Amino acid sequence: MTSPIRVTVLGPTGRLGSAICRALLDSPEFSLAGAVVRSESPACGVDIGSWLDREPIGCIGETALEHAVHEADIVIDASLPAMTVAAAERLASLGGPGLITGVTGFNRDQEARLAVCADKIPLLAAGNFSLGVAVTEALVRQAARLPATEWDIEVHETHHKRKADAPSGTAIMLARAAADARGERLEDIATWSREGTTGPRQSGSIGFAVSRGGSVVGEHAVRYLAELEEITISHRALDRAIFARGALEAIRWMTNNGEGRANGRYSMQDIVG
Ligand SMILES: NC(=O)c1ccc[n+]([C@@H]2O[C@H](COP(=O)([O-])OP(=O)(O)OC[C@H]3O[C@@H](n4cnc5c(N)ncnc54)[C@H](OP(=O)(O)O)[C@@H]3O)[C@@H](O)[C@H]2O)c1
Repeated sequence: MTSPIRVTVLGPTGRLGSAICRALLDSPEFSLAGAVVRSESPACGVDIGSWLDREPIGCIGETALEHAVHEADIVIDASLPAMTVAAAERLASLGGPGLITGVTGFNRDQEARLAVCADKIPLLAAGNFSLGVAVTEALVRQAARLPATEWDIEVHETHHKRKADAPSGTAIMLARAAADARGERLEDIATWSREGTTGPRQSGSIGFAVSRGGSVVGEHAVRYLAELEEITISHRALDRAIFARGALEAIRWMTNNGEGRANGRYSMQDIVG
């Protein structure tokens, strides 16, 4: 039997992080090698198995990244942007292990710092771990090749009322895929929101519409609107379990049967091909 893939989790107490930890503990293919928490976290110094209402596993929530990763094959991050960037820079200075981040909401400076880290370690950034969303992104890219002069693109998203950032990282990722396919930079053509007397729609722009409420896990639709026809490419997450499942798929891909991956930046598109 091959030995389990040893994984360190950043942010194991959050909604995404705890789902990933549970999925890791449920599979003999993986073991939890470390867990990084804030010093103020109630899980600091606590066995993560017990924290998740499971048997103790001997993996304690700790603040020192170096210590939490020294036996890890890969690090997976479900924390928040400032922590992600600090961890990526630390891993880059240590020369590994590689990092998979599922975090969204990086600002431009944080994105640039992550790009520098990707020269020194393998770094997979997935604003959405769902394999269905990854396929949706590929379809969005394909449909965006329709002429921008005839087809207007609008991205709609709905999430639960606790979500802090808008538009969602996934909505931005889908819009960016469409902009890329049109040879544009999203920042140059995005209409992030509309209010009041907005005037006619600017040709070639990509618009966003955001809804928040209830417990919606995540809904995204990319609409292509022409004078005589419309296309909608949509994805609906029914259970947060899809994120943990995709995260495990990302871990398998990044560790690559023990071979690992070359330094560089990767995405879920590399996994769905
Ligand atoms: N890629 C995907 O498929 C996917 C799916 C869902 C969400 N997300 C994204 O994942 C991120 C987390 O979402 P969530 O809903 O799980 O949020 P959450 O429930 O608020 O969890 C955030 C986690 O980060 C930890 N954290 C925050 N600052 C930290 C620091 N400085 N050091 C160590 N840990 C720190 C928190 O620890 P404490 O408990 O101590 O505060 C908590 O464990 C967001 O960016 C979200 O948009 C991605």
